[in-house]
Amino acid sequence: MFNHVEHYAGDPILGLMDKFAKDDRPNKVNLGVGVYYDDNGKLPVLESVKKAENQIANPPKPRPYLPMDGLIGYRTACQNLLFGKGSQVLGDKRVATIATIGGSGALKVGADFIHTWFKDAKCYVSKPTWGNHIGIFEGSGFEVGEYPYYDKDTNGIKFDELLAFFNGLNKNDVVLLHPCCHNPTGVDLTNEQWDKVLDVVKAKELIAFMDIAYQGFGQDMDADVYAIRKAVDLGLSFFVSNSFSKNLSLYGERVGGLSVVCPTADEAKLVQGQLQFTVRRIYSSPPSHGGHVVDIVMNDESLFNEWVSEVYVMRDRIREMRQKLRDVLEAKVANKSFEYLTTQQGMFSFTGLTPEQVQRLQDEFAVYMVSNGRMCVAGLNSSNIDYVANAMASVLA
Ligand code: LMR
Repeated sequence: MFNHVEHYAGDPILGLMDKFAKDDRPNKVNLGVGVYYDDNGKLPVLESVKKAENQIANPPKPRPYLPMDGLIGYRTACQNLLFGKGSQVLGDKRVATIATIGGSGALKVGADFIHTWFKDAKCYVSKPTWGNHIGIFEGSGFEVGEYPYYDKDTNGIKFDELLAFFNGLNKNDVVLLHPCCHNPTGVDLTNEQWDKVLDVVKAKELIAFMDIAYQGFGQDMDADVYAIRKAVDLGLSFFVSNSFSKNLSLYGERVGGLSVVCPTADEAKLVQGQLQFTVRRIYSSPPSHGGHVVDIVMNDESLFNEWVSEVYVMRDRIREMRQKLRDVLEAKVANKSFEYLTTQQGMFSFTGLTPEQVQRLQDEFAVYMVSNGRMCVAGLNSSNIDYVANAMASVLA
């Protein structure tokens, strides 16, 4: 009955996690999936999260279905973080926001919504991008193309090509943008570049879809959303998917959000209704536990402040690892610059290693990275950094 079903080759990122788990070499290092580990190589449980979970557990609470669009406090939390507490656009009630099953769920609901209401729209993602962006938009029925982005010769951005490409797109085409900590390259647009990109988005009437999974890991909570707030200032209507997986270390709870900035409060109500309808037809309503954790942490001033400082501890440790790896590699490998390690930001570094070199790292050293050369710097720590630097130096020699 099923022998016509095609073989699934596995996911290039999540499949690597399975492979890593099965590897019994004691010195193995996981620099594949975008997950933050602390200096002991452990997945942290944030103090602010522990306190919220204590409130939820004592006494244990009943667990009704949540509303289709999630808890109000959760939705407000997404909005305040992205657009700024007390901002005009929120006061004007022009933003429709729903809780979603992680950032992936936000992308899926957003893509389904756009495909329903803007049937001819095509979607364009950066070259390269997080592989699942393509999968999710294609799964919603889009034709997906790529816009020029990363320049491997300069470790920068093909900015003029990007602008020219956007200028050639059609009204209502979707451009998927990464407001900070670009996945997989770690190379972000400057604020001046964002200004120019968003001017073209406005002039050509494109639909910006901003996917932000690393707020707080780049510069800080506000600087990381420069592009989002600038788009509001320009009067754009656009989409934002956000994730709390990394910045609350709540990966498995699937906590994300989708926000749509609309021209008027009336349109925001229409969009809110259709987002609920979309959710109902896929999974009915979001999960409860993570929803309550986010609601509690974000809406209690003292827990919120504690949380922000915990994010900055993670951010700073990643920066420290970037600098150390750069120093060790520059000492070991002659005539090669590793400056990219400290100019790229967020969890990822695009190392420029070839798929063959990445495979050698895995086979000979049990060091796991994504085959496109993406390294999750947040998997480095003071115990494994020399080992990883030696392994990289060997395959580069
Ligand atoms: C990543 O890029 O490694 C993360 O966003 C995890 C994932 O789902 O791929």
